[in-house]
Amino acid sequence: MPSTHKNTKTALLDKIAQKNARIGVIGLGYVGLPLAVAFAEAGFHVTGIDLDPHKIRALKAGQNYIPDVSDVLLKQMRDSGYLQATSDFSALKKLDAVSICVPTPLRKTRDPDISYIVDVTARIKKFLHRGQVVILESTTYPGTTEELLLPELESTGLKVGRDIFLAFSPERIDPGNAKFGLKNTPKIIGGITADCNDVAVQLYGQIVHKVMAVSSSRSAEMVKLLENTFRAVNIGLVNEIALICDKLGINTWEVIEAAATKPFGFMPFYPGPGLGGHCIPIDPHYLSWKLRTMNYTTRFIELASEINHQMPEYVFQKIQHSLNLRKKSVKGAKVLLLGVAYKKNVSDVRESPAYDLAKLLEGSEASLSYSDPYVATWATDKNTYRSQKLSPALLKKADCVVVLTDHDKFDYAQVVRHARLIVDTRNATKKLSQKNVVRL
Ligand SMILES: NC(=O)c1ccc[n+]([C@@H]2O[C@H](COP(=O)([O-])OP(=O)(O)OC[C@H]3O[C@@H](n4cnc5c(N)ncnc54)[C@H](O)[C@@H]3O)[C@@H](O)[C@H]2O)c1
Repeated sequence: MPSTHKNTKTALLDKIAQKNARIGVIGLGYVGLPLAVAFAEAGFHVTGIDLDPHKIRALKAGQNYIPDVSDVLLKQMRDSGYLQATSDFSALKKLDAVSICVPTPLRKTRDPDISYIVDVTARIKKFLHRGQVVILESTTYPGTTEELLLPELESTGLKVGRDIFLAFSPERIDPGNAKFGLKNTPKIIGGITADCNDVAVQLYGQIVHKVMAVSSSRSAEMVKLLENTFRAVNIGLVNEIALICDKLGINTWEVIEAAATKPFGFMPFYPGPGLGGHCIPIDPHYLSWKLRTMNYTTRFIELASEINHQMPEYVFQKIQHSLNLRKKSVKGAKVLLLGVAYKKNVSDVRESPAYDLAKLLEGSEASLSYSDPYVATWATDKNTYRSQKLSPALLKKADCVVVLTDHDKFDYAQVVRHARLIVDTRNATKKLSQKNVVRL
């Protein structure tokens, strides 16, 4: 190994070990902000970079906006100067390590939109310097780090693995999960070279209990897509089991609960009104897109997606049928949605199946309202709604109450006591009366 190369790497490893490395996190959302706070808490000086002026203003004022981040800790980090925030990318000049946590959504055509990564790479390039490590955390298709970031960064004349270091490390954050957070969820690293791996492992080892390196950035990118495809496909399977059980007149939830007593070879997944959030409905399509460019159809992903996408329609039919049995049409029926966030105990409404169901209900001229303790206002294409406080009067008024998100804050005993008809898509009322409850 040439000595300058060795020195560059050793110097960076030492800086990290001594917590003298200056860290940057680009994109301060659900993934980036907890990461920035974790590095600051570990004793690093961290600069968060985001283009959203509201976020920068909030952070400068010591205000938290991500539920999984502690308000107190964030303020402490801000007050002590360990956490700074800016929209100015020239801050990168002074930074030794940069983690990229920008969005990777889908276009309307279901093709990956990697424009945020492209934009950030171009900005990083301007301030790239010897001895810097760049790590991509945004979920993306296998090959992104090597095919997109590597040539861009090396076009500066700096060589990856010698002058600078580059790796992919998928974020595995599970918003609202009180048991597993950033620190106790093992972190996967896939560097472009072995030296890139060493640097990235050293860096994340400062904030995560267990770091595991794989042989390439492609493998690390694929790890993330396997994890989320695994969930999407298993949810697709269990959603189909729910449709099958419905036809056979069997209680799906009882079947899953009983199957889950098997101590090996079975892992329970649960049906629901459809996929939501920024990961499970989106990430597998990054993989299918990549494979389409290679003339290969990812059959499991396509099938699971088809079934999962049908679920809001299926819930709508349940509502329609249940109202019909009560001599009511959907048109004009008062339908109260409980929970519009995509999953329990979070405020995130991105990709929530509540949108698809609301579209069907609005299209049939139901009179829609919702209650969600985490979401104060919520807009569909047609209307903007304000969350209603759950009360006996509100429940009594509704022709149909639909449990879409099983937030712990809802008083399900109250719901069952006062609602005339409940369509429960989450089995949230399982321990309560069966009367007037229609389940998936
Ligand atoms: N939310 C999750 O649970 C989760 C979990 C694992 C992985 N991921 C992945 O992590 C990535 C980020 O997701 P997120 O949920 O944190 O997104 P987010 O929308 O909450 O945050 C992204 C942030 O990036 C900022 N941003 C956009 N373009 C920028 C630019 N050019 N320069 C600087 N900042 C910019 C946005 O203003 C926003 O604050 C995505 O690839 C996502 O798939 C998300």
